[in-house]
Amino acid sequence: MKVTINTSKSGINDAEFKAFSPQIKAIHAKIHTQNAGIENAWVELPNNIDAEIKRIKDHAKWVRDNSDVLLCIGIGGSYLGAYAGLEMFPYDVNFPVVFLGTSLDAQKLVYTLKKYADKRVALNIISKSGTTTEILETFKIVDEFMRKKYPSKEEYSRRVIATTDVAKGVLRDFAAKNNLVSFPLPNGVGGRFSALCAVGLFPFAVAGLDIDAMLKGAKAAYKDCNTEKSEAYKYAIARNILNTKRGKSVEVFVGMYETLSGLGAWCQQLFGESEGKRAAPAGGKEDTVGRGLFPCHMIFTRDLHSMGQFIQQGTPLLFETFIDFEKPPVDLPTINKLNRAAYLGTVKAHSDAGVPILTITASNHNQEAFGYLLYFFEIACAASAYLLDVNPFDQPGVEAYKKEMKEFMK
Ligand code: PA5
Repeated sequence: MKVTINTSKSGINDAEFKAFSPQIKAIHAKIHTQNAGIENAWVELPNNIDAEIKRIKDHAKWVRDNSDVLLCIGIGGSYLGAYAGLEMFPYDVNFPVVFLGTSLDAQKLVYTLKKYADKRVALNIISKSGTTTEILETFKIVDEFMRKKYPSKEEYSRRVIATTDVAKGVLRDFAAKNNLVSFPLPNGVGGRFSALCAVGLFPFAVAGLDIDAMLKGAKAAYKDCNTEKSEAYKYAIARNILNTKRGKSVEVFVGMYETLSGLGAWCQQLFGESEGKRAAPAGGKEDTVGRGLFPCHMIFTRDLHSMGQFIQQGTPLLFETFIDFEKPPVDLPTINKLNRAAYLGTVKAHSDAGVPILTITASNHNQEAFGYLLYFFEIACAASAYLLDVNPFDQPGVEAYKKEMKEFMK
């Protein structure tokens, strides 16, 4: 299992990459420093999660044997990793998982509860902080539904599963008080860096996906990324050059299969929330304007028929990052050949029009590759944010919206 990056259509030369060596050396050391106070525990997750796997699998099996659906309440980083995996392997998913609390749209909630009123239901609430409004309000409603459905305390506490901070928070207290099955979000693992712990692994396991394969991929990525020469750092450097030296402000993640739209959404959050902020370098002054690329995602050829025109001839603000696979997911030579021609043709046309292109290629399209890619992008993202001098692990802007929203709720 390998992931490589092709930068030949980016317009970046070797000397430009080399010039980053001293910065990458320092960043590599920073990423692999496990000190209290640095949110880096996610870096070691592929090595440290093994002890949790049996419990995750055992309870996932119980849910599958005793329920008809798993309702998953989470938002942002507490949702998008699981969503990405379920979207990428819909034909391997053999148990329904429904995500709730992902917005404040009441329709999905009402119709989902109606749909499963007479079915056996399990519920996984996922929130690191335990304070997110969307999650708490959705949970109140679904919890009432569960308590009515399962008046026996014992039954209720097996069916409601809490994934939250290892030690603190309202949800941790609630889980303890109600004797719920619970999974910890370890210290130093922020929401958007948490897909490789129970936040993602439990819904994956319930859905019928192969979490051993994903972790195998993540472990391979850990090994490959644990060097200053890693492809993840090369990708981070390329992003930085395109942004700060070539004036590009938008990165479009492109997948040639529709099943990649969840991974695109996950990348969008990972990079957007980690990088899009003002820098406050140690000892320096905070920026007055913000930094970071605006990440978005598209599926080709579908979106070539909507956004292809803009990419080809519109305002030159973007570059493309293709997420590519050496082997296609299924063997249908006619369509696969066409899809390859579409990829090659698009790269040529867009590149001829001056759009820089990066291609990240995984050797296989399988769940091992998915685990690898998650870890690869996390390392690239942390490095990329550090290159911009921003803290990858906070989200002060999101906190601001939450605070203002609370004012309007009074
Ligand atoms: O990546 C992040 O930190 C955020 O997107 C959070 O995951 C999101 O805001 C939800 O937070 P919580 O898990 O605390 O409910």
